[in-house]
Amino acid sequence: MRLSGKHIVLGVTGSIAAYKAAYLLRGLVKEGAEVQVVMTPSAKEFITSVTMSALSGKPVISEFFSTNDGSWNSHVDLGQWADLMLIAPATAATLGKMAHAVCDNMLITTYLSAKCPVMIAPAMDLDMFRHPANLRNIELLRADGNLIIEPGEGALASGLHGKGRMEEPDVIVEEVIKFFGQKKKLLNKHFLVTAGPTYEKIDPVRFIGNYSSGKMGYAIAHELVRAGAKVTLVSGPVEIKNTNPQIKVIAVESAHEMHEACIGLFPQTDGAVMCAAVADFTPVQVAGSKIKREKDDLMIQLKPTRDIASDLGQMKSDQQLLVGFALETDDELSNAFAKLTRKNLDLIVLNSLNDHGAGFGVDTNKITLIGKNNNPAFFELKSKAEVAADIVAAMVSEMERKGKLQE
Ligand code: C5P
Repeated sequence: MRLSGKHIVLGVTGSIAAYKAAYLLRGLVKEGAEVQVVMTPSAKEFITSVTMSALSGKPVISEFFSTNDGSWNSHVDLGQWADLMLIAPATAATLGKMAHAVCDNMLITTYLSAKCPVMIAPAMDLDMFRHPANLRNIELLRADGNLIIEPGEGALASGLHGKGRMEEPDVIVEEVIKFFGQKKKLLNKHFLVTAGPTYEKIDPVRFIGNYSSGKMGYAIAHELVRAGAKVTLVSGPVEIKNTNPQIKVIAVESAHEMHEACIGLFPQTDGAVMCAAVADFTPVQVAGSKIKREKDDLMIQLKPTRDIASDLGQMKSDQQLLVGFALETDDELSNAFAKLTRKNLDLIVLNSLNDHGAGFGVDTNKITLIGKNNNPAFFELKSKAEVAADIVAAMVSEMERKGKLQE
């Protein structure tokens, strides 16, 4: 029994897939978990609380007060009791309420009181799933540190075919087991991560920037935290708001500010992941007032910025790990390896512009990881959260190989 002693709150919401929650509950209990089921009022339209209380051996909670004796169901106590909260199936409505703290049922109040990690398995029709409003909510929930169990592709209750099916109960049980089995290998470690673009001022209203969204760097920061580390994230201007208390964000704008922040922080860390798309050039002079359209042409003279990764590579001690990124268009592998050597990195993450779905702005990425032995590891196109997990796993292996982690 791989889940004995574990306390799990299973949140069930009103989706056709609610019937799968019974199999899921059975799977969790079979592995020894103690499970408290919380159902939304609409979940009870799809599956009865009798089934769920019989399988869990506990009365199902779905109201703020017991209708029998008026006693209060404490969402705070429940949130503290749980080692994990698992919401499966999670409807678009519940995802929206979770993302925006709309506390109109017991499940959402429990979620907001939960001190434990939260796993969410969405289930809905394909058009609902891919609607920008729903995808935005999922991104918000991910940014808040929740783990999303991606829905699968296949036949949907509507008769349509596509992405939206709740992941199968046995797969979710394995995910839960994997989650508890993960040792927090980076406990007491501190990492610096850079993310996003930099803005190089031309005049008070204009700048030279780039398309980096910061999504990859923020995903890495979350993954490092999940592995037990503390993270300082030096971030260029991005839309993403950090809500994770284990991540300290230092907001910067220019390559110079990012450089200053990183040089100051790096000596106190166990390593750094240089994910930011730092400008290579910056204007020699910044105009004090808005440049007027007086002539037919305008020349802006640029000077190179300092290479932060290279400078940290120079400063790096034997105890520290330095990871860089490379976006290459030709001779990708050899250029990336040359960059690793030149900047004194331990690991380089190669993104290719030739791969569809990889790179700036999008939610997916396709990477190749290259270490000092120049033995590349190729990965499939994945969500940036999954790519972040691959990168952190490679960092952990590298640190283990160098004896920087205790067993
Ligand atoms: O040389 P190139 O810009 O392709 O190198 C990319 C890597 O170097 C990335 O890890 C990026 O974050 C880092 N870099 C940096 N400072 C710069 C330019 C790039 O840290 N000025």
